[in-house]
Amino acid sequence: MIRVHNLTYAYEKGDSPVLKDLNLHIAEGEYIALIGPNGCGKTTLIRHLNALLIPSAGEVLVDELSTRNSKSLLEIRRRVGMAFQNADNQIVGMSVEEDVAFGPGNLGLPPIEVRRRVDEALTRVSLIGLRSRPPHTLSGGQKQLLALAGLLAMEPKIIVLDEPTASLDPESKKKVLTLLRKLNSQGLGIIHVTHSMDEAALADRVLVMDQGELIADGSPGDILSRVEWLKTLGLAPPQITELMWQLQQGGEDVSTCIFTVEDAAEEITALLERLRSSSNFCFPRKADGHV
Ligand SMILES: Nc1ncnc2c1ncn2[C@@H]1O[C@H](COP(=O)(O)OP(=O)(O)OP(=O)(O)O)[C@@H](O)[C@H]1O
Ligand SMILES: [Mg+2]
Repeated sequence: MIRVHNLTYAYEKGDSPVLKDLNLHIAEGEYIALIGPNGCGKTTLIRHLNALLIPSAGEVLVDELSTRNSKSLLEIRRRVGMAFQNADNQIVGMSVEEDVAFGPGNLGLPPIEVRRRVDEALTRVSLIGLRSRPPHTLSGGQKQLLALAGLLAMEPKIIVLDEPTASLDPESKKKVLTLLRKLNSQGLGIIHVTHSMDEAALADRVLVMDQGELIADGSPGDILSRVEWLKTLGLAPPQITELMWQLQQGGEDVSTCIFTVEDAAEEITALLERLRSSSNFCFPRKADGHV
């Protein structure tokens, strides 16, 4: 659906490029996490995907429409929705429903279709009950959901989110992440820029950038299990993966391809079973005889 060909970009003519000869193909319906150290070019790259930035060299195509062609701008932005970290900056309406209606209203759709889209989008993000509320009275998490509803009302094929959970409390974070998985299961493509490797583990494909280049592209298993490599990039591996890595460093035969507490519990239980059945290992016992 999106093809990036030899994309090079410098903010000012003559400056050294921030993106260097980058190539990338994204299919419909993918759930992608984009990770990389501060300043490596993640935001600059995604801003190219809906023509907020135009390449200095190379090309970005959305469904074969080039972002260089100003006539395709509206169509590209309809297909690729973009949300940023600070949801406050994206609020335009006096009420929740007015805010969501803003985008489809601008497409010149009949009012009945705008209403249908607003209702559907607010239902999908579970904000339908707050439709009349002034947006400034919403919590940070609800504002992020409102921003998502605004994107959904445009009926995009893919949404691009730049650190959408960065300023949210753990509960709101969980809500947004659960919603992203659900939207993806309904066919919506997602590109999620994040500094959290735990969040990246939720994606189906992880892209890693460093110094303006795409340096790795694989499954969470391929990428996030490389604990030492992530650390050399200045990225903190998922906590659970790091725990398994430390056990491995201590000589235990465990996988680092593990990202959830449940999988870690299973792996550690299997390890304990192996140790239990090996003749030269004795579990310490409590006074009541339990191990
Ligand atoms: N508007 C701008 N004008 C000039 N240089 C910029 C501009 N925005 C970003 N840069 C520079 O481009 C490089 C890439 O920045 P970008 O914001 O794309 O990185 P990032 O990976 O999103 O970083 P972060 O993880 O901190 O969000 C950085 O060196 C940054 O200083
Ligand atoms: Mg950024």
